Amino acid sequence: MLVESEIRSLKEGTEVTEVIFDAGAIAKRVAELGREIAEAYPDGDLLLLGLLKGSFIFLGDLVRNIPRPHQVDFMVASSYGSGTTSSGNVRLLYDPETDIGNRHVLLVEDIVDSGNTLNNLIHLLQAREPRSLEIATLLHKRIANKLDREPRFVGFDAPKKFLVGYGLDLAEDYRHLPHVVALKE
Ligand code: IMP
Ligand code: MG
Repeated sequence: MLVESEIRSLKEGTEVTEVIFDAGAIAKRVAELGREIAEAYPDGDLLLLGLLKGSFIFLGDLVRNIPRPHQVDFMVASSYGSGTTSSGNVRLLYDPETDIGNRHVLLVEDIVDSGNTLNNLIHLLQAREPRSLEIATLLHKRIANKLDREPRFVGFDAPKKFLVGYGLDLAEDYRHLPHVVALKE
């Protein structure tokens, strides 16, 4: 259930069918992920590469829960192609091009759906020869039929519904909602 102020923060006419992961459950899981990540990297430089915009809230919470030194940067990618099926191509709108040759890189995503975004970015980043390259995603729909690299850190398996909130959007709305919710289709 959403509280009154949350309902007022939504566009008029929005129908939320279900709160899938509430703020408390997300906070608990993100804290666990932070510890898992710190333990997975006993040495070396660690760079968290947040994929904007969807990951901005997850990344912000995650970095404050990783008890080891690390750096943060961002990438902005846009998939392009015609119609509703992705062409499988990703265009980079912002690319830090920082030297990752000597660093562990952890790509941070909001949600894995078809897997197209990750499949493209993984190859692009791997070509820069990082010390290691892994993926952390808050949500995983488990519907991608071919993921070139499975995310090593997954917050939650997600239902096969369209989800918004905690960074996820529908046409740029709803990112600010503290919970992950399903909208009425
Ligand atoms: P993929 O390339 O099909 O795996 O899609 C990944 C991107 O699509 C994510 O980074 C999201 O920005 C967006 N996306 C996929 N599923 C959802 C959803 O249920 N709600 C909001 N955005 C989604
Ligand atoms: Mg999006």
